[in-house]
Amino acid sequence: MPTAVDDLRIDGSRLHRRIEALGLIGAVHGPNGERGCARLALTDADRDARDLVVTWMRDLGLTVEIDRIGNVFATLPGTEPELAPVMTGSHIDTVATGGRFDGNLGVLAGLEVLETLITNGITPRRGVTVAFFTDEEGARFAPDMLGSLVYVGGLALEDALDIRAADDDARLGDELDRIGYSGALPVPAVSFPHSYVELHIEQGPILEDAGIEIGVVEGVQGISWTELTISGRSAHAGTTPMHLRRDPLLVAARIAGFVRDLTGELGGDQVGTVGRLDVHPNLVNVVAATVTMTVDVRNTDESLLQDAERRLAEFVATVADEEQVDVRSRTLARFEPVEFDPAMVDVVELAARRLGHSTRRMPSGAGHDAQMLARVCPSAMIFTPSVDGLSHNIAEYTAPDDVEAGANVLLHVLLERAGLG
Ligand code: GLV
Ligand code: MN
Ligand code: MN
Repeated sequence: MPTAVDDLRIDGSRLHRRIEALGLIGAVHGPNGERGCARLALTDADRDARDLVVTWMRDLGLTVEIDRIGNVFATLPGTEPELAPVMTGSHIDTVATGGRFDGNLGVLAGLEVLETLITNGITPRRGVTVAFFTDEEGARFAPDMLGSLVYVGGLALEDALDIRAADDDARLGDELDRIGYSGALPVPAVSFPHSYVELHIEQGPILEDAGIEIGVVEGVQGISWTELTISGRSAHAGTTPMHLRRDPLLVAARIAGFVRDLTGELGGDQVGTVGRLDVHPNLVNVVAATVTMTVDVRNTDESLLQDAERRLAEFVATVADEEQVDVRSRTLARFEPVEFDPAMVDVVELAARRLGHSTRRMPSGAGHDAQMLARVCPSAMIFTPSVDGLSHNIAEYTAPDDVEAGANVLLHVLLERAGLG
């Protein structure tokens, strides 16, 4: 007897096994049993992870296609090939101190949905595509969501290929060639999906604190990344009187303090982070010569985000003047807040409730490929809880039941969008 479609469920243990297997590539172990991932975009580890996921895709008989920025797509054809497919996916690159769920869950749950359809002999009207997008994290090559941004036409391919790595200055295009993932499909894509839905861990504490099983994501907050290169005068720590110093590290410290104060002043959803500080020459008895730092500010409200950016720029100019240093500022990423398609959001909520899950509508604090896809097709996201709200941390964890619940919601949203019969 074929399974009634309403009763269809993914295989949680198969999904779990794939998450564990992919998590072994670039695995990082913590002192308390934490198991995370260091799989920066376009490194050897990223290549090995890509190869494994592509093997799984091919093992299911899916045709795998790769575009010129290295995004990978595998499609289960529908019964009506002239219809645009529905798409799901996410990313498999991680930050250097990442977990094994961020991004990976969305890709592997998408694959699990396809396997569930195949093994149950279900062919929807529209094809269903599972994708993984290049360099979502932006930790090695800024901006974040780079692959999906290029896919939708928000960044020219040639400009993207020329971006340099934050760690070793490698050129993105060269790294893509080196790992063998410079594909043939043109970017921007010649046609876009009918709709896009992405399953992702929440990466914050809201669902866990509220005891809610599924987050229905209504949008993504705006993101602004700035890199500041501060140049002063390197000098002897013992002999240089304080009034003669031009100390870029002191300026960086004042900026970091300002960013924290600013979030307090603006209140609400404003967040701000100084996450990277490169100090030269970084020696105990030398006033630093240069400091490169990053500032990440985010808000769900575009005008408040602009206010934060303006105040930051004013403070940087003032402190640079006071301390007699030069500051060069470069925007690494800038994305306005995104609202997902209300009808798609409703579909997610309904599917989750039909499956008996508690739900909560919420914005996303993190950036996601879905916010880029939202530029070209109706898009939405499903969140599952993160233990202790932790992510971008090797202790990141989402319980198997939550993983399974999220993947089943994904299955039913995709079925509803792809249509049957
Ligand atoms: C990227 O995933 C970010 O939110 O920083
Ligand atoms: Mn992610
Ligand atoms: Mn991430």
